[in-house]
Amino acid sequence: MEKNPGKCLIDGCGRTIRYLRVSVTDRCNLQCRYCCPSIRFRSLPHENVISYEEIARLAGILAQRGVSSVRITGGEPLVRKHIERLVHFLTRIPGIREVSLTTNGLLLEDQAEILAKAGLARVNVSLDSFLPERFNWITRSTPANGQDGPTTVLRGIQAARKTGLVPIKINVVLMRGVNDDEILSFTDLTRDLDDEVRFIEFMPLCPEISWGNELMLPSSEIMERIEKSRGPLIPVERGAGSGPAVRYRIPGHAGTVGFISAMSDHFCAGCNRIRLTSDGKLLTCLFSEAETDLLTPMRSGAGDNEILSLIEEAVRQKASWHGIAQNQVCPSCSRCMFSIGG
Ligand code: 5AD
Repeated sequence: MEKNPGKCLIDGCGRTIRYLRVSVTDRCNLQCRYCCPSIRFRSLPHENVISYEEIARLAGILAQRGVSSVRITGGEPLVRKHIERLVHFLTRIPGIREVSLTTNGLLLEDQAEILAKAGLARVNVSLDSFLPERFNWITRSTPANGQDGPTTVLRGIQAARKTGLVPIKINVVLMRGVNDDEILSFTDLTRDLDDEVRFIEFMPLCPEISWGNELMLPSSEIMERIEKSRGPLIPVERGAGSGPAVRYRIPGHAGTVGFISAMSDHFCAGCNRIRLTSDGKLLTCLFSEAETDLLTPMRSGAGDNEILSLIEEAVRQKASWHGIAQNQVCPSCSRCMFSIGG
């Protein structure tokens, strides 16, 4: 039971909103094939990007209505200047109990310490291949630092571990015929390290990404392949912070493997999230085409109550589920993943 149901944000299906994901930029130092279109898109002009102060104001309003957890995403959040300032603002808002961040890890080695000092609790790091050439192909990028991509990301993960941004969750989007031969290499990361490797089902979010559903590996198949070689996966009890991942442990391994089955077994019934884009639009579902502009009213002088009414109305309309039938490409999503933040 909610302690104070009247004060919480509850949607039309009775779900209480606790979790805000903020995409702080649509810029990224990678161009992953599953995440953004092949053509160079134009980034938002700076004046249309929501400021850290504006994000903090919205987070403060939401915190008064029961939102307790904020995740910073992108684009790539670490390419936005002084992101630790936002972390600092957010962690000081009464009611916000955890601020975390999702990154591709390339800039993490340099920034882990300053982020931890600002109050960041944890990081999720995306890594889809240990093989440099494949990493470059998936991300359509060649790292500029003279090191290969996987090494740079792994160094970032190590730095995050050292500064206490743990447990680290490593996000892997598996695609059939692209990187599914690395399932066991990723699984074996959990042998000695108390991290969580999470296999995320490929979501066909953007119609421009023509390579479609044949790429999608359902979690059930990934699990089968792990069990065949590494023995039984033992379910881990769901705890606070497990999010949409269903987690397992391989006997003897320090860490866990998680499965995010957004396509084969969607978890919309338990969804407690809303999303804010870097141009200040509120989205109540990753796949939603409806957006509520919060930035324009804020910049026109709207008071907190007015903003709250807009949020409440959007939340009331939150879709009961994401509506993408299994194995169907989303026909007309207006945004690609890079601008929503996963
Ligand atoms: N399908 C599944 N996961 C995706 N991500 C980005 N695009 C997709 C997609 N089309 C993941 C990233 C990141 C997380 C935030 O979202 O790999 O780890």
